[in-house]
Amino acid sequence: MSERVRLIQPSATLSISAEAKRLAGEGKPVINMSVGEPDFRTPEHIVRAAEKALRDGKTFYTPAKGIPELIDAIARVYREKGFEVGHENIIVTPGAKYAIFEAMFATLNEGDEVILLDPSWVSYEPCVIFSGGKVVWVPHSEGFEDAPVEEYITNKCRMIVINSPSNPLGVVYPKSFLKKVRDLAVDKDLIVMSDEIYDRIVFEGKFHSIAEFDGMLERSIIINGFSKTYAMTGWRLGYAIAPEEIIKYMLRIQSHSVSHPTSFVQYAGVEALTGEQSCVDKMVAEFKVRRDLMMKSLKDIGLDFAPPRGAFYMFVNVGRDSMEFCSSFLREKYVAATPGSAFGKSFNTWIRLSYATSRENISEAMKRLAEFVS
Ligand SMILES: Cc1ncc(COP(=O)(O)O)c(C=O)c1O
Repeated sequence: MSERVRLIQPSATLSISAEAKRLAGEGKPVINMSVGEPDFRTPEHIVRAAEKALRDGKTFYTPAKGIPELIDAIARVYREKGFEVGHENIIVTPGAKYAIFEAMFATLNEGDEVILLDPSWVSYEPCVIFSGGKVVWVPHSEGFEDAPVEEYITNKCRMIVINSPSNPLGVVYPKSFLKKVRDLAVDKDLIVMSDEIYDRIVFEGKFHSIAEFDGMLERSIIINGFSKTYAMTGWRLGYAIAPEEIIKYMLRIQSHSVSHPTSFVQYAGVEALTGEQSCVDKMVAEFKVRRDLMMKSLKDIGLDFAPPRGAFYMFVNVGRDSMEFCSSFLREKYVAATPGSAFGKSFNTWIRLSYATSRENISEAMKRLAEFVS
């Protein structure tokens, strides 16, 4: 077996989800709060666009970097935000996750260090390792809105990953932190990967991309996608915006691996970006109600959590080993949560609860949590 893949640990969350499925199969009243996907169906107009593309015969290979109509739509969205981007700066990928993989593969060399904030989304570390890089974990400062990144940069550092709003914290990083990272990146000649997949799911404060800052568009790889904003997880559609040279290298990987994202799915992506946007506002409003409901319940129960301003997760300190907590919570109360140990180095007593599930499920899960912790 490959040494590089041997370095990747099997996901700590797999046993929890396998057990959740087994219990649900036995007819137990399982509430799954471990999933990172909206529970809404993909909006109807987007589904219709895919259907139409299929009927119109859009079933052949497409250009490797994506159909021009979708690249146009992405460019327009980002130009409206003030970014000077053209077709040469964009690649459409089968999911944002593959864009992250390609971007790291295209830019990292053996031994290059990549800064990840602790805690971070579970797949960054494996992507760094697959690419031959090495992760340097940086703890957050109190309140989770800052981190002493400057103390962890060595001469091997090549990339800093920022994910705002973040999974699992829901933090929307303030301009002061982004500006600090910008200054470090420019000063030390680093790439910043800015994973903006939750940029539209913000309840408080304003989302800022690090690429907005002076000199950053030339050294940023912006990652975004359709899974979260448009409830399109299973469609597998994402994209990256980056300097032309990086896109060229990503394209080499894409054209020799997956070729391109599924043809008719790309047409659905055009409709998602250019069609009616009220579906997004509705989903975000519902996520906010659920977040408020959860924050109130957790306060009543007396558990500490990182107050989320975006995305759809609650990161909660349960004060004991997270893997053991999640297994017993599932076995005894039939609620599936993700252990904090999956997200980094310092959160072994925290769990992640996704509120991408109905209000009824949330109320019932919070009732069971209260019983469980007492
Ligand atoms: C922070 C973050 N980035 C990227 C992804 C991947 O999204 P996609 O479904 O587009 O691959 C996820 C999905 O959970 C995520 O939480």
